[in-house]
Amino acid sequence: MTNKNDIALAEKRLGDQFWRLNNLYYVINKQGYKVRFELNWAQQQLYNDLYYLNLVLKARQLGITTFISLLFLDVALFNSNVSCGIIADTEENAKYIFRKIKFAYDCLPDSLKSIREARIDSAKELTFSNNSLIRVGTSLRSATFQYLLISEFGKIAAEDVKRANEILTGSLNTLAEGSYCFIESTARGRSGAFYDMCIEAKKLQDAGKKLSKMDYKFHFMPWHREPAYKLGSYTHISEDLQNYFLHLLSQGIILTDEQKYWYAAKLAHQGENMKREFPSSAAEAWETSNEGLYYGRQITEARLEKRIGSVPYDETALVYTAWDLGISDSTAIWFVQLCGKEIHLIEYYENSGEALTHYLKYINDRPYSYGTHLCPHDILNRELSSGLSRQSTARKLGVSLIAVPRLEIQTGIDAVRNILNRCWFDEKKCEKGIKCLESYKKQWDDKNGCWHTSPLHDWSSHGSDAFRALAVGLPMITGKKSQVDLERGKLESQRDPSGLLPGHFLYMPETRQSNNINIRRNTNF
Ligand SMILES: Nc1ncnc2c1ncn2[C@@H]1O[C@H](COP(=O)(O)OP(=O)(O)OP(=O)(O)O)[C@@H](O)[C@H]1O
Ligand SMILES: [Mg+2]
Repeated sequence: MTNKNDIALAEKRLGDQFWRLNNLYYVINKQGYKVRFELNWAQQQLYNDLYYLNLVLKARQLGITTFISLLFLDVALFNSNVSCGIIADTEENAKYIFRKIKFAYDCLPDSLKSIREARIDSAKELTFSNNSLIRVGTSLRSATFQYLLISEFGKIAAEDVKRANEILTGSLNTLAEGSYCFIESTARGRSGAFYDMCIEAKKLQDAGKKLSKMDYKFHFMPWHREPAYKLGSYTHISEDLQNYFLHLLSQGIILTDEQKYWYAAKLAHQGENMKREFPSSAAEAWETSNEGLYYGRQITEARLEKRIGSVPYDETALVYTAWDLGISDSTAIWFVQLCGKEIHLIEYYENSGEALTHYLKYINDRPYSYGTHLCPHDILNRELSSGLSRQSTARKLGVSLIAVPRLEIQTGIDAVRNILNRCWFDEKKCEKGIKCLESYKKQWDDKNGCWHTSPLHDWSSHGSDAFRALAVGLPMITGKKSQVDLERGKLESQRDPSGLLPGHFLYMPETRQSNNINIRRNTNF
């Protein structure tokens, strides 16, 4: 017979969420066995540090999605009128998460299920008799939740910018103040909404600022804290890897031999993606895999060699600019100084929806002494509206834009690769430009499962195209060989609005005519 003490104890336990989370739910573990769920270290860390808005950057397979899903189940079961939403990266993962929640519910004691009956309203929605619900999908627009999980948001933001924005503007904006939100993911390179949000949240954390309810709390879970990530048998550790472990040691990350063997063995399979999938530190999680990227390796090298940092303006040297002039999209401008063999990128400017005059004013307003302004060849094309080329328009306004030679895109990309090892970037003033170079990638051919040879046109193209103008045009400002091109460029810039170069007989219409007559005469002979 149950005595009063037992009932009191059961009530006390059931009233304690931490007890419930460690005793009430069941999952299928990685080995495929049904086990009672108990919080592992990563789950415990997240639970202890829980805030209203949470950003979780993590190594793979630490149980983060499972934990947040079960937390939502618990919240829904033990609180009335609560709505929990889970957004997954793919349909398949949405189904997987839903099954996980349904499984945990089905394994609850019958006595509990009888007072919290569940109804499956659709393939992805569980509603309880206390009017609380959990909905799982790939986008949950127009619904209001008090608890929201966005799973693998880094992947969503990297692969589908439009969808990421929809999630941010749709689902996130419906959260009332004081709601709980978890955005969790492994990293996907140094760009995209997940990266931006994490960097912002980490900055707040590092500054020790008190967070408002609108701020995100940053959580990081590295691989080396996971006890399962170790290997008992010896694995060869290359010299590079030994140096990497020494580097970790200098950061206070002490690894056992078994952890080193595990890392070496895992690295052999993961290759370039290792730091993304199993980061040792939050900073290294953003190091991109160079797969499909044009300049990924070169920018990583620049970071490692500390060529991305503070690069101040040298008042004694000229500033050159390199442009990509957008007609219907962004215009990008790099500001460059040449210091011996070094190429200093001191500033990057990008904007859209503005006329050429805006950009000319921008460069004129900077406190620089200018050398040449390098632009892609299309500045020579005449515009339908004015009949003038953009080069002529700029010259009228006192800026001489020089057209760099028109080359195959791949030749230009090679030219960029050739100069990147001499480049020093100002980290702050060139932040967006560096992101462009780092993210500039080939198009992915879904049908054939391989990379196209041509670049993907996206937000990273503008900064990268402007940098290509720099690489292709650089000999025009440095090399003797291209002095002729430079002269030709200067000459071109002297064309009058009708496109003629007055005083130069080759360009005079009458001369052309007489040349033609001569040719005809020659033919007649
Ligand atoms: N505390 C736990 N005890 C036992 N098994 C667990 C626990 N937490 C999670 N698992 C199991 O570990 C596996 C990985 O969990 P989950 O998918 O939640 O991890 P994740 O960090 O989201 O992984 P990914 O990096 O793939 O997104 C699943 O099989 C899950 O059921
Ligand atoms: Mg997950």
